[in-house]
Amino acid sequence: MTPASPAVPGHIGIIMDGNGRWAKARQQPRAQGHLEGLRRAKRIVKAASDLGVRYLTLYVFSTENWKRAADEVGFIMALVRQYLKGELAFYRQNRIRIRHAGDIAGLPADIGRILREAMEETRSFTGLQVVLALNYGGRDEIIRAARKMAASGALDKETITEEALSRHLDNPDIPDPDLIIRSAGEYRISNFLLWEGAYAEYYVSRKLWPDWTEEDLSAAIAAFNARERRFGGISA
Ligand code: IPE
Ligand code: IPE
Ligand code: MG
Repeated sequence: MTPASPAVPGHIGIIMDGNGRWAKARQQPRAQGHLEGLRRAKRIVKAASDLGVRYLTLYVFSTENWKRAADEVGFIMALVRQYLKGELAFYRQNRIRIRHAGDIAGLPADIGRILREAMEETRSFTGLQVVLALNYGGRDEIIRAARKMAASGALDKETITEEALSRHLDNPDIPDPDLIIRSAGEYRISNFLLWEGAYAEYYVSRKLWPDWTEEDLSAAIAAFNARERRFGGISA
């Protein structure tokens, strides 16, 4: 019997972790791990696009990652620059829309500009939407949302609702993630999509991110499809 094509989660988030360990295992500089990690990210974007995933949020750089050595941070930012500029043809070909989550004001000015340009140039594409979580922290996003509410005069007892706060998050039109994947075996959320991930299914892969392939994505989706989501209710 041929199995029916499995359902694909509409929104997948990925904590792409393990670049440093991958490099260390090869006696290479951490930068090499980030370079290979970026290549994998592109492969996984293509795979998600081919599978018909609607939204893919990639955790690229957290609000806490600034604590790392300046040369590592600089290298990651240089990769981001290169990726955003160099992959436009790839997005166009695959009708992929680029979006951003996080505090754009805290990024180097030129990256903010390139990011805005990439979002603008891909705005009309109706395929997969890739959300780059860059200078992103879940707590920071919630604080910025509360500040936006305050600025709009909407911060009082009656108007503070889940719905109102959700509307002030970075991408209010994007549905909550169904599946959040973390590579490299760590069982923690590290400040990723704290609000939006309230009822996401979590999947931890032991594989380091630079070793990830299309098959790993399919395995995560298969595991997701075997879960029962109850959202606080009880089974039918
Ligand atoms: C993830 O890989 C990439 C970023 C956090 C920017 P790491 O650099 O955290 O890799 P490990 O966890 O040290 O192996
Ligand atoms: C989470 O990984 C951030 C990204 C993948 C961008 P970290 O490596 O920063 O997380 P911790 O430090 O292990 O919690
Ligand atoms: Mg890490």
